[in-house]
Amino acid sequence: MSVYREYLFEGPLFNPSFEYEIRGREKELDKIKNFLKEAFEEESVRSMLVLGDYGYGKSFMLYKIQKMVEKKEIEGAEKTITAWVVIAETEPVGAISYEYVTNIFKDIGPNQLFEIASKLNLDQIEKFKEPFKSILRGLKDRKESAFNWLMGETQDAREKKELGVKRKLKTSEVLNIFMDFLEAMKTSGYDNLLVLLDEFEYAVNVYSEVKLTQLFHTFKSIFDRFIKFGDASRFAKHIQVIAMTPKGFDAITDLETKLRKSTGGGGITPWLSRMRFDINHVILGPLDKEAVTQIIKDRIEAHKVPFKERPFETFPFIHPEFFDMIYLYSGGNPRDVLYLTDIVLKKAAKDNIKEITGKYTEAVLKEYGIVKQI
Ligand SMILES: Nc1ncnc2c1ncn2[C@@H]1O[C@H](COP(=O)(O)OP(=O)(O)OP(=O)(O)O)[C@@H](O)[C@H]1O
Ligand SMILES: [Mg+2]
Repeated sequence: MSVYREYLFEGPLFNPSFEYEIRGREKELDKIKNFLKEAFEEESVRSMLVLGDYGYGKSFMLYKIQKMVEKKEIEGAEKTITAWVVIAETEPVGAISYEYVTNIFKDIGPNQLFEIASKLNLDQIEKFKEPFKSILRGLKDRKESAFNWLMGETQDAREKKELGVKRKLKTSEVLNIFMDFLEAMKTSGYDNLLVLLDEFEYAVNVYSEVKLTQLFHTFKSIFDRFIKFGDASRFAKHIQVIAMTPKGFDAITDLETKLRKSTGGGGITPWLSRMRFDINHVILGPLDKEAVTQIIKDRIEAHKVPFKERPFETFPFIHPEFFDMIYLYSGGNPRDVLYLTDIVLKKAAKDNIKEITGKYTEAVLKEYGIVKQI
């Protein structure tokens, strides 16, 4: 980057980072905010889908949601705990619901779990059944072993004795423990558990139909327990924002159709029909040229050498055709925008070119074998 050093800091300018503004997603953000506002305020359980192909900003969107909640920019956020979960991250484990629930505990982390328990008095803890009662006591005493138990870890005899539990968390009890946890959350003053479920297409690809059906059944059971108890206010609400590729979601609806034909329902249908994803979804499509340009400008702006007058605002991309080319060759895919801009900038630095034109940009991209997307 030496030719640009005078005006720009060296360093990873066009890395895919979440530390910048999200561009060109105003409508989608509005819809998500409204969804969350309603979900936080209403006494019903809800889920929303964020669909987009690889690199279109699904994880980035979940990150922004997490930040909005942390900064309490949405009404009801102050009574919300968020958990970011990816399932089937590593090897598939035995039970997918078990993985889902234990990963939620893991992401919430020991400190926040200790904090929840610390807000409960001993009488409130007494109302829970074993083994959750003992776990809550352990959390209140800030015992790491209580947190480890919730993550599904096996404990040695001493730890079990100390905690007052007989065995590790079992697959068959995981849903009950999760409901106990939602109740404990509610009792300690939290109304919502917002689960940000990322890369869900991965789970769809890796898990068998049986295991997937089991997971959807768990989601449905969580939903139904609110209804069953009639008094929804007993539990914190389990709200999900699920991000995946459109193909991943197609696989789910295909599976649903297939199961509905063969079994006449059951499985996935009940949950899907409750969640109303036909309404509760956003699609992250290609960005327009303005947003593409803005993404690049944001990075240049963040890396400019202070108090140094630049020859042009977007230096070294001083020709508008540069942005046309990046738009054409990226097809509006934000990850590709960053990747292609990085290639061009590095090559230009090597070639000692100070002002990057559209022609030069196209020549470099062609040299790298990249083809037009638009
Ligand atoms: N709207 C946007 N505005 C600015 N930058 C964006 C936007 N969308 C995505 N990006 C950038 O593109 C990068 C890639 O986005 P992200 O990782 O969220 O894609 P993804 O859809 O999760 O991809 P994958 O399916 O491969 O996980 C982000 O790190 C971010 O820097
Ligand atoms: Mg992602």
